[in-house]
Amino acid sequence: MTLAGKRILLVIAGGIAAYKSLDLIRRLRERGAEVRPIMTRGAQEFVTPLAVGALSASHVYTELFSREDEQDVGHIRLARECDLVLVAPATADLMAKMANGLADDLASTVLLATDRPVLIAPAMNPKMWVHPATQRNFALLQRDRINAIGPMEGEMAESGERGRGRMAEPLEIVARVEDLLSGPKPLAGLKAVVTSGPTHEPIDPVRYIANRSSGKQGHAIAAALARLGADVTLVSGPVTIPDPAGVQTRHVERAEEMRDAVLSALPADIAVMVAAVADWRVATSAGQKIKKQPGEAPPPLQLAENPDILKTVGHHSERPRLVVGFAAETENVEENGRAKLERKGADLIVANDVSPETGVMGGDRNRVRLISRGGVEAWPDLSKDDVAERLALWIATQIGGTGT
Ligand code: CTP
Repeated sequence: MTLAGKRILLVIAGGIAAYKSLDLIRRLRERGAEVRPIMTRGAQEFVTPLAVGALSASHVYTELFSREDEQDVGHIRLARECDLVLVAPATADLMAKMANGLADDLASTVLLATDRPVLIAPAMNPKMWVHPATQRNFALLQRDRINAIGPMEGEMAESGERGRGRMAEPLEIVARVEDLLSGPKPLAGLKAVVTSGPTHEPIDPVRYIANRSSGKQGHAIAAALARLGADVTLVSGPVTIPDPAGVQTRHVERAEEMRDAVLSALPADIAVMVAAVADWRVATSAGQKIKKQPGEAPPPLQLAENPDILKTVGHHSERPRLVVGFAAETENVEENGRAKLERKGADLIVANDVSPETGVMGGDRNRVRLISRGGVEAWPDLSKDDVAERLALWIATQIGGTGT
């Protein structure tokens, strides 16, 4: 609940992207925010106040000269009783009004009357975006310290035209809102390196040895550390999930490549090694596809041990101040975790039970135990995002970041 108790005044202007505002409302509320919507007349042509009201569980404000609304809250209170004013979509027209201080409807009046931070998510036809008038207005808004996200590159919903003009996705907007409303960042000024996902160890050019790791936990940890202000390098094995926002992601295939990428990210203050690195690689992977030979026995696979990245980092001359490892176990979770803490030179081992019946590998949830020299902390069953959030806070407490 990263936005618990936060009050967002959401101004929806009249563009086709208004349909995305419905999802945006849902995402904001999921994170604990209270959303009060204002709709321009144009917005009501694209989505109905009924839908916006139902999703936000709030009265929808549409009129400047509504006697009821003015008696109830009034446009000045509306403009001030919030933590952030979010304009999504922000049309060329509304941006022009904002840039020039026009106040001829409720949305523009509230935007002129507010003393709160404002974030706009522009969305329009690409030709309208590049028009000198829009660019002039946008420059004025930036000078007035109005925050903006997008518009993004892409295909336009209505015309199929390509170019810059698409509204940022709801989740991108939410991340920016969280960023703007978050307090001091405890990991600001600190560098972190995180590994995530499986590794693929080639047998020949078309075959490889892999494991069931999805990268969900490692990616979530990288994103959570970045949200706390850390400068994060994520070294990811082959995964199908997107690169997390606000993180520098480097893609690798093999354990040896992963080790090289991690070492080149040192020095760092924090290392979190989450990847399910293959313990072995094929000693000499074939240069050509291995063919079946009729009547012959299958080819033997000669394995060689891979470098242990966590252990290398844990004993490195540029060892990060805080080294965190994971321990994927199917039995004796605590005992094995403790042994790994010592063997690998880590400060913390996050031990999880990956027996098939737990569904941890590839799933969305995780139940972990934190094993450090200070003792053991058992966490309840949580989503991988929540584990990431809590772990990032744990790390921030341990390392006592500088803050901003
Ligand atoms: N790890 C690593 N490099 C390896 C193997 C593991 O960096 N070659 C890291 C993992 O990212 C994880 C921790 O070591 O943080 C423990 O991984 P795990 O697979 O549980 O341990 P192993 O060392 O492989 O031990 P075992 O397979 O015997 O349990």
